[in-house]
Amino acid sequence: MDTPPQASTRLTDLPAWKALWSHFTRAREWHMRALFEADEQRAERFTLEHQGLLLDYSKNRITGQTMTLLLQLAEQCGLRARIDAMFAGARINETEDRAAFHVALRSRGDTPMRVDGADVMPQVRAVLQRMARFAGAVRSGEWLGHTQQPITDIVNIGIGGSDLGSQMVCEALKAYAHPRLRMHFVSNVDSSQLKETLRQVHAQTTLFIVESKTFTTHETLTNAHTARDWFLHRAQDEAAIARHFVAVSTNAAAVAEFGIDPRNMFEFWDWVGGRFSLWSAIGLPIMLYLGERNFLALLDGAHAMDGHFRDAPFDANMPVVLALLGIWYINFFGAGSHVMAPYDQYLHRLPAFIQQLDMESNGKRTTRDGQLVDYETAPIIWGETGINGQHAFFQLLHQGTHVAPIDFIGSLDGHGSLPGHHEILMANMFAQAEAFMRGRNADEVALELAAQGVDAAAIRRMVPFRVFDGNRPSNTVLLERLDPYRLGALIALYEHKIFVQGSIWKIHSFDQWGVELGKQLAKTIHAELLAHRPPQAHDASTAQLIARYLAVNAQRRC
Ligand code: F6P
Repeated sequence: MDTPPQASTRLTDLPAWKALWSHFTRAREWHMRALFEADEQRAERFTLEHQGLLLDYSKNRITGQTMTLLLQLAEQCGLRARIDAMFAGARINETEDRAAFHVALRSRGDTPMRVDGADVMPQVRAVLQRMARFAGAVRSGEWLGHTQQPITDIVNIGIGGSDLGSQMVCEALKAYAHPRLRMHFVSNVDSSQLKETLRQVHAQTTLFIVESKTFTTHETLTNAHTARDWFLHRAQDEAAIARHFVAVSTNAAAVAEFGIDPRNMFEFWDWVGGRFSLWSAIGLPIMLYLGERNFLALLDGAHAMDGHFRDAPFDANMPVVLALLGIWYINFFGAGSHVMAPYDQYLHRLPAFIQQLDMESNGKRTTRDGQLVDYETAPIIWGETGINGQHAFFQLLHQGTHVAPIDFIGSLDGHGSLPGHHEILMANMFAQAEAFMRGRNADEVALELAAQGVDAAAIRRMVPFRVFDGNRPSNTVLLERLDPYRLGALIALYEHKIFVQGSIWKIHSFDQWGVELGKQLAKTIHAELLAHRPPQAHDASTAQLIARYLAVNAQRRC
C-alpha cells in the first residue's frame, strides 16, 4: 500500500499536484462550451446550496476529474487537520503565537470554545451583552449627548480591519438601519476625510468610536486626537468626552492613556485577527446602526457557514470548492488576479473588504516551515460593482490577454428595488457570466453581420475584432436575499476559502509582517519632516523627495 504523503511534504512534490499538472496539459485545451454540450447535468452537478446561498461553479474549466484531483490535493495537504486545529482554538497563527479563533465570536449555543483550555465563550457573550446594552441605549435615545440630545451621527475612526468590515456591512445592510442614525467612516490620515466628515456633524449629537486592535496605529490615533480636539473646542468640558467617545481595542492601557474612560471601552482579544474582527466588538458600528437582532443574525449566518465548513465533505463544501478552483487557476493557468463583481449596489464595498481579507492573509511567499515557495500564492483581488465594471474594465476581461476568474454575486429577491430595475441588473449579471463562458466565434459573428446586411468584404474585416474567445471562468453566488443572515454566511464563506488556500499553499494566513517595514520607515521620515531629527541615510530618490517636501513647506512657513 502507498504511504500517504506527510503534511510537511513540499506542495509541488505531492502526488495530486503532479497529477494536476499532467491533467492540466489536457484541460487547457478544453472549451467550456463543449463541456456544457457534452454534459446535460453539468450545471446541476457543479452547484452547491447552503443556508440561502447558491454557488454555481459550472462555468469553470473543470471536469469531474479535475475536482477529484483538486480534492485529493486538499487531503494530501492535511486540510482536515488544519480545519480541526482552527476550530479547536489551536495557536495556528504561529508567528504571532496566537489562535485564530474568529469562529468563536459567532458561536451560538452552549458549546465551550477553548483557547489554551479556557472557554472564551463567557467573555464573548459578556462583551456582546455590553455592546447590545450600549447600542440599545443609543438607538432608543436613552443615551444622550452632553447637551441632553440623542445621538444622530456615528463616526468610526479606524483603518484596515478596524474599518473595512464594519463599513462594508453597514453599507450592505443600509435597508435595515436605524432611521435616525447616520454612519461615517474615517480611516485616512489625510485630514480631508475627517474635515469633510466633521463638516456634516454636530458635536452635541455625534458619537465617535475609536477602533484599533493595537491602539498604536498612527493614522487612527492622529484622527482620534484631532476629533477629540474638535469636540473639546466645542463642548468646552472634558467630562463631556464620556458621552461622545468610546473605544474598541485589545489594549486597555493605551485606551486609558488616550483619555477614554475604560468603562467606555469594548474589548476583544488577541486571538481575533484584525481583518477577521467585524464579528467582535469591532462590529459595534454595525450593532449601533442595525440593532442587536440584526447583528446576531449576521453572526448566525456566519456560524451556519462555520458548521458547513467544519462538517461538510470536501466535495460538497462551499469554501473548500471555491478555494480549490482558485488554486486551479492561480497555480496551473497562471491567473494573477481575481475579480469580485457584486451585482448589488449595497455590496459596493465588498471588493475592498475581500481585498484586505485575501491579500493581507495570503500575500506571502514563505512556507510555514520557513522555505521560500516555488509556486504562486494569493492573487491580486480587485473589482467593483459588476454593472459599473461592465462599462469600464470588462472589455479587458472579455478580450484582453489576462485570465482573471470572476465571482459574480447577486441576490434573487429584488424586493425593495424600484420597479423594473432588478430584472435589468440580474439580466446583466447572468448575461455576462454566459458571455464569458460561451464567447462568440467567427462563424457566429459573420452570421450576425450578414443578417444585418453587411457585405462579405466588410464582414471579413470586422470579424477578428468582434470575436470573443469565451472560456473565461466565473463563479456565480446567488443569495436568496441580501439580509444580515445571508451576508454573514457570505463573508464567512470567503474567510474560509482564504484559510483553505493558505493551508494548501502552506503559508501563515493570519499574520501580516509585510506591513511593518513601511510603518517603521514612515516613523523615521515623519520625524524628519517635522525636523525633529536630521535626515537619515536614504536612497537618492527618497532623499530628493523629502528635500523637495521640506523646501516647499519651509517656504510656506516663512
Ligand atoms: O497595518 C495593517 C494592520 O495591522 C491591519 O492588519 C489592521 O487591520 C490594521 O492595520 C489596523 O490595525 P489596528 O486595528 O491595530 O489599528
